[in-house]
This record gives sequence, C-alpha cells and structure tokens, in this order.
Amino acid sequence: MPRVIEIPELSVVLLIGASGSGKSTFARQHFLPSEILSSDAFRAAVADDESDQSATQDAFEALYFIAAKRLRNGKLCVIDATNVRPQDRAGYVELAKRNHVPTVAIVFTGNPEICLARNLTRPNRKVAEQVVHTQITSLQQNLEGLQAEGFGEIHTLDLGAHDAEVEIVRRPLACNKRSEHGPFDIIGDVHGCYEEMAELLDALGYQPRTMDTRDPIWGASTWSHPGGRKALFLGDLADRGPRVLDTIRTVRNMVASGAALIVPGNHDVKFARWLRGEAVTAAHGLERSIAEFQMLDHEIRERAASEYAEFLDNRASHYLLHGGKLVAVHAGLPEELQGRCSETVHSIAIFGKLRAESHDRHWA
Ligand code: UTP
Ligand code: MG
Repeated sequence: MPRVIEIPELSVVLLIGASGSGKSTFARQHFLPSEILSSDAFRAAVADDESDQSATQDAFEALYFIAAKRLRNGKLCVIDATNVRPQDRAGYVELAKRNHVPTVAIVFTGNPEICLARNLTRPNRKVAEQVVHTQITSLQQNLEGLQAEGFGEIHTLDLGAHDAEVEIVRRPLACNKRSEHGPFDIIGDVHGCYEEMAELLDALGYQPRTMDTRDPIWGASTWSHPGGRKALFLGDLADRGPRVLDTIRTVRNMVASGAALIVPGNHDVKFARWLRGEAVTAAHGLERSIAEFQMLDHEIRERAASEYAEFLDNRASHYLLHGGKLVAVHAGLPEELQGRCSETVHSIAIFGKLRAESHDRHWA
C-alpha cells in the first residue's frame, strides 16, 4: 500500500532536503512539469548551467516571479530547492500568505549516507560531500520550527523507506464546490424567522418532513425539493427572530441530507462564539438567541452548545459553485480572494471589507 500524502489542490508545496535526497526525482514522479519550480532549472534558464552558483540570485528572482504569477492564477507551486534553512523558506511562506493559499512542507529526512551515495551516482552534477553534510546538519537543527514558521501541513519522508511508495492526493479547498450545479434557491438572512422561512420553502416547492423530535438537539423539521433544487443559505440564521434554534436545526437537517448549503454570517459566528463560552456583547439581537438557548434542558446544554457552534462557524467562509460561475458569500468578497482561504478571506467574507479592517469587526 502506498503512503498517501494529501495536499490542498491550491497551495505552495516546499520540498525540503539536502542535495541528493531525491527532491527532483520525487517532484517529477508526482507533479506536472509546469507545477515544479526548481532552482536548478531556473539557474539553467538564466545562465545555461544548472550548477552555476553565481546565477543563484537571478534564478531565485525568476522563480519567485513565476511562482507569484502562478498563485495569482490559482495554480499549485512545488518549490524544488534544498530549502534547508528557515531563511530559505520564509519568502515562500510570505508569498503563500499574500496569495491566501496554504503552505505544505515535504521534508526528506533519514540516512545521510543515502544522500551522499546518490550524489556520487549522479551523471551530471555532484555536490561536495562537505556541502551535503552542512545541509543535513542545518535541516536537522531547525526541523522542529517548521510549524512556527507558518507551514500548515508537514509531511516527512524517511529516505529509502518510502521513496517509491508515495501517492499524492489533491484535496479540494473547502470553498471549492464547483461541481455543485444546483439549481439553487438563494436565501439570505433568515434571522430566526422560522415561520417565514417555512412559508418561503413551501412557496418554492420544497416539501417538509418532521424529523425524530425525540432528538432534543437536532429534532425539528427538514425540507427537500422533489425536483432536486437546493436551498443556498447565505448566513445569519441566528439572532433577532423568535425561533432561532428551530431555524438552525432545520437548515442543518437540510444540509445533512444534501437539500441545502450554507455559508456563515456574522451573527452566526458571534452566536457560535457565545456558545463556545467566549465573552461577547449580547446586542443586535444576540440576546434573543441566548434567551432561547437558555430555555433548553440543563443536561443537554453542553452538547447542544458545542454541536450548534460547530455547525454555525466551522465551515468554509464562502463557496464557489456551478463551475466557479456562482459565489456564495454573506458579506462579499473581492474577486481575487474568491476560492482562497486565509484569515483575511474568512473575515472579509463574513464581516465585510470595512468591518474586517476595523478594530471592532466582531461587534456583530
Ligand atoms: P535528485 O536529483 O532527485 O536529488 O536525486 P535532489 O534532492 O533533487 O538534489 P539537489 O538538491 O537538486 O542537488 C539525486 C540522485 O539520486 C537518485 C537520482 O536518480 C539522482 O541521480 N535517486 C533519487 C535514486 O537513486 N533514488 C531515488 O529514490 C531518488
Ligand atoms: Mg534537484
């Protein structure tokens, strides 16, 4: 069985390892030539010689330029260079952040003798033994710090043990629902107005079904469309209206059965924060959600709080649907941020650009 390494479909993947550790060989096996940005190839591109160290600065400038273009175009970048020191990696973490994509480290560790032996067998370019030792030492010294440097996912390949047995699986970003084609009925801010929501779903041809009401947390109605239409809720189920919990339960049941999709709104996120025990100001209708929640039986409150919060805020900030032609988002999102994920994207999608940039963005 090959070892499966999952990577986000759109990300910056850094191959990290000493010379001869097999990075370029690995890259060729698992990625498209256009996805691989190799320092050697860029040395050759700018100076006709992949081992010309005097071309290093030009080579990396060219590599960065292409990486930035690719990320702006929503394309994966695999950086094939030794990347053994934090200062070699920092620029790529920064580049990924600037483009709102995740970073992945694939580290080639293990027996230094294998690197040295492979180096000797290379037909074209042999790296001095002392250089390889230095690379291995500096890699070992700072491996622990990779997470703190900003790498979201770190995979380690033990040299010799896995080389031939890795399968790379590309994981769609959570916001990528391009393969969902609807047709959609798009419904904004229900705000606890359960009766009106039911009336609207009925008018749109959805049919109700009562769920097992013995489930005190999720027992409520659910709706589905006989023609396969999907309700696309644009957030803010919570606050203000008289039946916040029934609204949340019903929409969750619809989402669970595939009859609906939802992106979170600022009120949902704030209610979720209250449910998680964070200090939030009970204003702008939140007091209604809290009062309703406090009517629940004591013994189920803890579980209900965690399950409702999970449903309300632990999801993609926005969705790209229908081949990317439709974007579902609560507050709004500039085109260059659509289909990306970062704290900034999350904040703008849910709170809006102005509020995301201001200090009181969490007021509601
Ligand atoms: P690579 O050329 O893939 O190493 O392999 P690298 O990490 O990219 O090295 P630098 O950083 O560019 O210098 C080095 C040699 O090891 C062989 C390759 O064929 C190549 O000659 N190799 C690699 C193996 O024999 N087995 C492997 O699994 C990987
Ligand atoms: Mg190489």
